[in-house]
Amino acid sequence: MAVERTLSIIKPDATDRNLTGKINSYIEEAGLRIIAQKRIQLTRGQAEAFYGVHKERSFFGELVDFMISGPVVPQILEGENAIAKYREVMGATNPANADDGTIRKDFAIDVQSNSVHGSDAPETAAVEIAFFFSETEITG
Ligand code: CMP
Repeated sequence: MAVERTLSIIKPDATDRNLTGKINSYIEEAGLRIIAQKRIQLTRGQAEAFYGVHKERSFFGELVDFMISGPVVPQILEGENAIAKYREVMGATNPANADDGTIRKDFAIDVQSNSVHGSDAPETAAVEIAFFFSETEITG
């Protein structure tokens, strides 16, 4: 298995409920390292660009409104098989379908306010990491 990097975002529903530290403990207990992290307020343009792949979906407008409703915490996670491992740690997109012990089962409110985002493939991870972080912000 290769050491990979993936992009995580702790979403506004979770920052609003002061869950950043609790979510980070799920990440670290799974053996993933948080090698970069910042707390920011997305602009509408940034949220539309980040989720551009979903722009034809019926929920796109609501998703963008939600992602700019409060601060988010983008972070780079590193570890063996990090992309698939983080998707396991997050649980299913809809918390109603998430396994016990996952972040979304334990903290998400609904399919939109689902507390975290994680990249789905190496190509998207590279693009999403570069969206939020410059090389000088990544210390390893
Ligand atoms: P995420 O993994 O960040 O990728 C796209 C996001 O769109 C997803 O998490 C949810 O926040 C949101 N989403 C996906 N499906 C729906 C849906 N059916 N209704 C509302 N929001 C959704």
